[in-house]
Amino acid sequence: MLPIYPSLLAADLSDLSTVLRKVESANPAGVHIDVMDGEFVENTSFDFALTQKIAKSTNLPLDVHFMTKNPEKFMQPYLGLDIARISVHVEESPSLLFLQKLRDKGIKVGIAIDLPTPVEDLLPYIDHVDFIMIMGVKCGASGQKFSFEAIEKTIWARDHFEGEIMLDGGINDYTAPLVEKAGASSIVMGSAFFK
Ligand code: DX5
Ligand code: ZN
Repeated sequence: MLPIYPSLLAADLSDLSTVLRKVESANPAGVHIDVMDGEFVENTSFDFALTQKIAKSTNLPLDVHFMTKNPEKFMQPYLGLDIARISVHVEESPSLLFLQKLRDKGIKVGIAIDLPTPVEDLLPYIDHVDFIMIMGVKCGASGQKFSFEAIEKTIWARDHFEGEIMLDGGINDYTAPLVEKAGASSIVMGSAFFK
């Protein structure tokens, strides 16, 4: 089975501590936090205060997915937290210098790609990141249906990149083996984990 990062976006956060104990008891690779700004996507989620609270409440590695405009600026306060992994979207054209600065801090950096974006847009980044994150749904919400274009993107990514390929969105017991066969090496699971 692939390493799993449960996505807290799908959890009922009215009782954060119960949610985190449930996540921890599954022995995941880490916990996935979806930061949304209401601009890159319509929703907002996981502002700094909530992310800080999570960081203080668990020892699990934090895997933070920035679905924001101008991630470089947006993430500045978050960089004061102990974050293990950060993914930023190729659609925001992050600078290679910025990604390298994150890596120099010991953070594993991923380049994320939303569903409608051509996979070739990853090419300038593949020699400069620790992982690629391929969306199986359109960014912005948990509980959407997996789109099979993501399988083709995963196959392409496996052909061009030797490192970790993470799949996010629509992953469940049925789609996980399919993305694994296509070359994925880790998965995010939201609704299938919590519901
Ligand atoms: C979607 C988020 C995902 C989402 C996954 O924009 O990036 O992390 O929470 O949830 P499921 O697994 O329900 O698609
Ligand atoms: Zn995500």
